[in-house]
Amino acid sequence: MSQSQLSTKHLLGIKYINTDDINLIFKTAQNFKEVINRPIKKVPSLRDVTIANLFFENSTRTRISFELAEKRLSADTVNFSAASSSVKKGETLLDTVNNILSMKVDMVVMRHPAPGAHHFLANHIDANIVNAGDGTHEHPTQALLDAFSMTEKVGNLKGKKVVIVGDVMHSRVALSNIYCLQKLGAKVMVCGPPTLIPQHMSSLGVEVEYDIDKALAWCDIANILRIQLERQDIKYIPSLREYALYYGVNKERLSKLDKSITIMHPGPINRGVEITSDVADSEHSIILQQVENGVAIRMAVLYLLAGVRGSE
Ligand code: CP
Repeated sequence: MSQSQLSTKHLLGIKYINTDDINLIFKTAQNFKEVINRPIKKVPSLRDVTIANLFFENSTRTRISFELAEKRLSADTVNFSAASSSVKKGETLLDTVNNILSMKVDMVVMRHPAPGAHHFLANHIDANIVNAGDGTHEHPTQALLDAFSMTEKVGNLKGKKVVIVGDVMHSRVALSNIYCLQKLGAKVMVCGPPTLIPQHMSSLGVEVEYDIDKALAWCDIANILRIQLERQDIKYIPSLREYALYYGVNKERLSKLDKSITIMHPGPINRGVEITSDVADSEHSIILQQVENGVAIRMAVLYLLAGVRGSE
Protein backbone atom coordinates (compact mmCIF):
# COMPACT_ATOMS: atom_id res chain seq x y z
CA MET A 1 0.00 0.00 0.00
CA SER A 2 1.45 3.42 -0.89
CA GLN A 3 2.09 5.82 1.98
CA SER A 4 0.00 9.00 2.37
CA GLN A 5 2.18 10.86 4.87
CA LEU A 6 5.90 11.57 5.19
CA SER A 7 7.83 9.55 7.77
CA THR A 8 9.43 12.72 9.16
CA LYS A 9 8.44 16.15 10.47
CA HIS A 10 11.50 17.88 8.95
CA LEU A 11 13.37 17.71 5.65
CA LEU A 12 16.93 17.86 6.98
CA GLY A 13 18.50 15.79 4.22
CA ILE A 14 17.80 12.98 1.74
CA LYS A 15 19.77 10.68 4.05
CA TYR A 16 16.93 10.89 6.60
CA ILE A 17 13.96 10.11 4.32
CA ASN A 18 13.05 6.80 2.70
CA THR A 19 12.15 5.73 -0.84
CA ASP A 20 8.41 5.82 -0.05
CA ASP A 21 8.81 9.44 1.12
CA ILE A 22 10.55 10.31 -2.17
CA ASN A 23 7.84 8.62 -4.25
CA LEU A 24 5.11 10.38 -2.25
CA ILE A 25 6.83 13.76 -2.82
CA PHE A 26 7.04 12.99 -6.58
CA LYS A 27 3.37 11.96 -6.79
CA THR A 28 2.30 15.12 -4.94
CA ALA A 29 4.62 17.30 -7.05
CA GLN A 30 3.07 15.86 -10.21
CA ASN A 31 -0.35 17.09 -9.03
CA PHE A 32 1.05 20.51 -8.09
CA LYS A 33 2.79 20.76 -11.47
CA GLU A 34 -0.64 20.56 -13.08
CA VAL A 35 -1.90 23.26 -10.71
CA ILE A 36 0.89 25.72 -11.54
CA ASN A 37 0.28 25.29 -15.25
CA ARG A 38 -3.38 26.33 -14.90
CA PRO A 39 -4.49 29.94 -15.49
CA ILE A 40 -5.26 30.14 -11.72
CA LYS A 41 -2.09 28.79 -10.15
CA LYS A 42 -3.07 29.02 -6.50
CA VAL A 43 -4.61 26.50 -4.07
CA PRO A 44 -5.68 27.19 -0.46
CA SER A 45 -3.76 24.18 1.00
CA LEU A 46 -1.53 26.16 3.41
CA ARG A 47 -3.90 28.99 4.28
CA ASP A 48 -3.26 29.85 7.97
CA VAL A 49 0.29 28.42 7.81
CA THR A 50 3.13 30.92 8.30
CA ILE A 51 6.55 30.15 6.82
CA ALA A 52 9.82 31.98 7.48
CA ASN A 53 12.46 31.84 4.75
CA LEU A 54 15.81 32.36 6.47
CA PHE A 55 18.72 32.79 4.06
CA PHE A 56 22.15 33.09 5.67
CA GLU A 57 23.79 32.49 2.27
CA ASN A 58 23.14 33.86 -1.21
CA SER A 59 20.53 32.25 -3.42
CA THR A 60 18.56 33.02 -6.57
CA ARG A 61 16.76 29.81 -7.63
CA THR A 62 16.08 28.16 -4.27
CA ARG A 63 14.85 31.29 -2.55
CA ILE A 64 12.52 32.41 -5.35
CA SER A 65 11.33 28.85 -5.86
CA PHE A 66 10.39 28.41 -2.16
CA GLU A 67 8.71 31.82 -2.08
CA LEU A 68 6.68 31.01 -5.18
CA ALA A 69 5.79 27.56 -3.84
CA GLU A 70 4.54 29.13 -0.59
CA LYS A 71 2.49 31.77 -2.43
CA ARG A 72 0.94 29.13 -4.73
CA LEU A 73 -0.11 27.23 -1.57
CA SER A 74 -1.59 30.43 -0.01
CA ALA A 75 0.82 30.39 2.97
CA ASP A 76 1.80 33.60 4.77
CA THR A 77 5.52 34.21 4.39
CA VAL A 78 8.29 36.29 5.94
CA ASN A 79 11.72 36.62 4.38
CA PHE A 80 14.96 37.06 6.26
CA SER A 81 18.36 37.77 4.78
CA ALA A 82 21.38 37.58 7.09
CA ALA A 83 23.13 40.41 5.25
CA SER A 84 20.51 42.95 6.43
CA SER A 85 19.71 41.45 9.86
CA SER A 86 20.82 41.64 13.50
CA VAL A 87 23.08 38.63 12.85
CA LYS A 88 25.50 41.39 11.83
CA LYS A 89 25.24 42.70 15.44
CA GLY A 90 26.27 39.31 16.86
CA GLU A 91 22.90 37.59 17.46
CA THR A 92 23.14 33.77 17.57
CA LEU A 93 21.30 31.45 15.18
CA LEU A 94 19.11 30.08 17.99
CA ASP A 95 18.21 33.56 19.29
CA THR A 96 17.44 34.74 15.75
CA VAL A 97 15.16 31.78 15.06
CA ASN A 98 13.47 31.82 18.48
CA ASN A 99 12.67 35.53 18.06
CA ILE A 100 11.13 34.85 14.67
CA LEU A 101 9.19 31.84 16.00
CA SER A 102 7.76 33.88 18.88
CA MET A 103 5.88 35.76 16.16
CA LYS A 104 3.98 32.45 15.58
CA VAL A 105 5.81 30.94 12.63
CA ASP A 106 4.93 27.31 11.78
CA MET A 107 7.66 26.31 9.33
CA VAL A 108 11.25 27.42 8.73
CA VAL A 109 13.00 27.13 5.36
CA MET A 110 16.67 27.82 5.95
CA ARG A 111 19.91 28.07 3.98
CA HIS A 112 22.97 28.22 6.21
CA PRO A 113 26.73 27.91 5.59
CA ALA A 114 27.26 25.53 8.54
CA PRO A 115 26.75 21.82 7.81
CA GLY A 116 24.31 20.45 10.41
CA ALA A 117 22.78 23.84 11.35
CA HIS A 118 19.32 22.41 10.58
CA HIS A 119 19.84 19.41 12.89
CA PHE A 120 20.78 21.81 15.67
CA LEU A 121 17.59 23.83 15.11
CA ALA A 122 15.40 20.73 14.88
CA ASN A 123 16.63 19.75 18.36
CA HIS A 124 15.72 23.12 19.83
CA ILE A 125 12.53 24.39 18.19
CA ASP A 126 9.06 23.07 17.48
CA ALA A 127 8.50 24.28 13.88
CA ASN A 128 9.02 22.10 10.79
CA ILE A 129 12.52 22.71 9.38
CA VAL A 130 13.29 22.50 5.66
CA ASN A 131 16.94 22.45 4.63
CA ALA A 132 17.48 24.78 1.65
CA GLY A 133 21.22 24.00 1.69
CA ASP A 134 23.65 23.59 4.60
CA GLY A 135 27.22 24.40 3.66
CA THR A 136 28.85 21.57 1.72
CA HIS A 137 26.54 18.96 3.29
CA GLU A 138 23.03 18.54 1.75
CA HIS A 139 20.57 20.35 -0.52
CA PRO A 140 17.64 17.95 -0.39
CA THR A 141 15.04 19.83 -2.45
CA GLN A 142 17.63 20.25 -5.24
CA ALA A 143 18.19 16.47 -5.32
CA LEU A 144 14.44 15.84 -5.33
CA LEU A 145 13.83 18.22 -8.21
CA ASP A 146 16.83 16.77 -10.07
CA ALA A 147 15.58 13.18 -9.71
CA PHE A 148 11.99 14.21 -10.54
CA SER A 149 13.27 15.94 -13.72
CA MET A 150 15.29 12.84 -14.61
CA THR A 151 12.24 10.58 -14.31
CA GLU A 152 10.25 12.93 -16.54
CA LYS A 153 13.00 12.67 -19.17
CA VAL A 154 14.06 8.99 -19.00
CA GLY A 155 11.37 7.21 -16.93
CA ASN A 156 12.04 4.95 -13.93
CA LEU A 157 15.59 5.54 -12.65
CA LYS A 158 16.21 1.90 -11.65
CA GLY A 159 19.46 0.90 -13.39
CA LYS A 160 19.92 4.30 -15.10
CA LYS A 161 23.48 5.63 -15.04
CA VAL A 162 24.03 9.14 -13.70
CA VAL A 163 27.41 10.84 -13.53
CA ILE A 164 27.93 13.86 -11.26
CA VAL A 165 30.74 15.92 -12.78
CA GLY A 166 33.02 18.51 -11.23
CA ASP A 167 33.55 20.06 -7.82
CA VAL A 168 32.11 17.20 -5.75
CA MET A 169 34.28 18.21 -2.77
CA HIS A 170 32.47 21.51 -2.18
CA SER A 171 29.02 20.47 -3.39
CA ARG A 172 25.93 19.86 -1.23
CA VAL A 173 24.05 18.97 -4.43
CA ALA A 174 26.38 16.00 -5.01
CA LEU A 175 25.76 14.28 -1.67
CA SER A 176 21.98 14.79 -1.76
CA ASN A 177 21.89 13.54 -5.37
CA ILE A 178 23.89 10.44 -4.45
CA TYR A 179 21.51 9.53 -1.60
CA CYS A 180 18.41 10.26 -3.67
CA LEU A 181 19.52 8.44 -6.84
CA GLN A 182 20.67 5.39 -4.89
CA LYS A 183 17.33 5.22 -3.05
CA LEU A 184 15.63 5.23 -6.47
CA GLY A 185 17.87 2.42 -7.80
CA ALA A 186 20.10 4.45 -10.16
CA LYS A 187 23.82 3.75 -10.65
CA VAL A 188 25.91 6.76 -9.68
CA MET A 189 29.41 7.82 -10.72
CA VAL A 190 31.36 10.92 -9.72
CA CYS A 191 33.94 12.43 -12.07
CA GLY A 192 36.36 15.30 -11.66
CA PRO A 193 39.98 16.12 -10.89
CA PRO A 194 41.31 13.94 -8.00
CA THR A 195 41.70 17.07 -5.85
CA LEU A 196 37.93 17.77 -6.08
CA ILE A 197 36.72 14.20 -5.40
CA PRO A 198 36.64 13.38 -1.65
CA GLN A 199 38.38 10.12 -0.72
CA HIS A 200 35.29 8.70 0.98
CA MET A 201 33.23 8.68 -2.24
CA SER A 202 33.74 4.99 -3.03
CA SER A 203 32.59 4.10 0.51
CA LEU A 204 29.19 5.61 -0.45
CA GLY A 205 28.86 2.96 -3.17
CA VAL A 206 29.46 5.29 -6.12
CA GLU A 207 31.93 4.72 -8.94
CA VAL A 208 34.82 7.17 -9.19
CA GLU A 209 36.23 8.16 -12.61
CA TYR A 210 38.84 10.82 -13.30
CA ASP A 211 38.55 10.71 -17.12
CA ILE A 212 35.61 12.85 -18.26
CA ASP A 213 35.40 11.17 -21.70
CA LYS A 214 35.05 7.71 -20.11
CA ALA A 215 32.45 9.07 -17.65
CA LEU A 216 30.35 10.61 -20.43
CA ALA A 217 30.58 7.39 -22.47
CA TRP A 218 29.29 5.43 -19.40
CA CYS A 219 26.31 7.56 -18.43
CA ASP A 220 22.71 8.18 -19.52
CA ILE A 221 22.60 11.50 -17.65
CA ALA A 222 25.33 13.99 -16.71
CA ASN A 223 24.64 16.35 -13.81
CA ILE A 224 27.34 19.01 -14.07
CA LEU A 225 28.40 21.00 -11.02
CA ARG A 226 29.75 24.50 -10.66
CA ILE A 227 33.35 25.05 -9.55
CA GLN A 228 32.76 26.71 -6.15
CA LEU A 229 35.73 29.04 -5.94
CA GLU A 230 34.13 30.86 -2.98
CA ARG A 231 34.45 27.70 -0.82
CA GLN A 232 38.02 26.91 -1.91
CA ASP A 233 40.48 28.20 0.66
CA ILE A 234 43.41 26.66 -1.23
CA LYS A 235 43.97 26.06 -4.95
CA TYR A 236 42.47 22.70 -5.96
CA ILE A 237 42.89 23.30 -9.71
CA PRO A 238 45.64 25.18 -11.56
CA SER A 239 43.19 27.53 -13.31
CA LEU A 240 39.62 27.70 -14.60
CA ARG A 241 41.01 27.63 -18.16
CA GLU A 242 42.75 24.32 -17.47
CA TYR A 243 39.65 22.91 -15.74
CA ALA A 244 37.55 23.83 -18.80
CA LEU A 245 40.09 22.13 -21.06
CA TYR A 246 40.24 18.84 -19.12
CA TYR A 247 36.76 18.59 -17.55
CA GLY A 248 34.49 21.11 -19.30
CA VAL A 249 31.49 19.49 -21.00
CA ASN A 250 31.42 20.82 -24.56
CA LYS A 251 29.94 19.93 -27.97
CA GLU A 252 33.19 18.39 -29.16
CA ARG A 253 33.25 15.90 -26.27
CA LEU A 254 29.58 15.01 -26.68
CA SER A 255 29.90 14.57 -30.46
CA LYS A 256 32.43 11.76 -29.86
CA LEU A 257 29.75 9.68 -28.07
CA ASP A 258 27.66 7.16 -30.01
CA LYS A 259 24.51 8.28 -28.12
CA SER A 260 22.78 11.35 -26.71
CA ILE A 261 22.93 11.98 -22.99
CA THR A 262 20.71 14.20 -20.86
CA ILE A 263 22.49 17.30 -19.57
CA MET A 264 21.68 18.82 -16.18
CA HIS A 265 23.10 21.57 -13.97
CA PRO A 266 21.73 22.83 -10.63
CA GLY A 267 22.83 26.42 -11.37
CA PRO A 268 24.26 28.95 -11.17
CA ILE A 269 26.21 28.07 -14.34
CA ASN A 270 29.73 29.26 -15.03
CA ARG A 271 29.36 29.29 -18.82
CA GLY A 272 32.59 28.31 -20.56
CA VAL A 273 34.03 26.68 -17.41
CA GLU A 274 32.18 23.47 -16.44
CA ILE A 275 29.81 23.64 -19.42
CA THR A 276 29.75 25.54 -22.72
CA SER A 277 26.71 27.58 -23.75
CA ASP A 278 26.01 25.37 -26.79
CA VAL A 279 25.62 22.37 -24.43
CA ALA A 280 23.75 24.21 -21.65
CA ASP A 281 21.24 25.55 -24.19
CA SER A 282 21.02 22.42 -26.36
CA GLU A 283 17.97 20.22 -26.94
CA HIS A 284 19.49 17.61 -24.58
CA SER A 285 19.70 20.04 -21.69
CA ILE A 286 16.88 20.02 -19.11
CA ILE A 287 18.36 22.81 -16.97
CA LEU A 288 15.30 25.07 -17.17
CA GLN A 289 12.92 22.13 -16.62
CA GLN A 290 14.84 21.51 -13.37
CA VAL A 291 14.06 25.08 -12.29
CA GLU A 292 10.39 24.75 -13.29
CA ASN A 293 10.06 21.46 -11.40
CA GLY A 294 11.65 23.04 -8.33
CA VAL A 295 8.45 24.97 -7.56
CA ALA A 296 6.24 21.85 -7.75
CA ILE A 297 8.70 19.80 -5.66
CA ARG A 298 8.89 22.52 -2.98
CA MET A 299 5.09 22.85 -2.93
CA ALA A 300 4.90 19.08 -2.36
CA VAL A 301 7.51 19.14 0.44
CA LEU A 302 5.83 22.05 2.29
CA TYR A 303 2.35 20.60 1.85
CA LEU A 304 3.36 17.13 3.08
CA LEU A 305 5.37 18.45 6.05
CA ALA A 306 2.39 20.60 7.08
CA GLY A 307 0.36 17.37 7.04
CA VAL A 308 2.78 15.73 9.49
CA ARG A 309 2.59 18.81 11.75
CA GLY A 310 -1.21 18.82 11.58
CA SER A 311 -1.43 15.16 12.62
CA GLU A 312 0.66 15.55 15.79
N1 CP B 1 20.66 25.51 -7.28
C1 CP B 1 20.73 26.44 -6.31
O1 CP B 1 20.74 26.11 -5.11
O2 CP B 1 20.79 27.72 -6.76
P1 CP B 1 20.81 29.01 -5.81
O3 CP B 1 22.10 29.00 -5.05
O4 CP B 1 20.68 30.17 -6.75
O5 CP B 1 19.64 28.90 -4.88
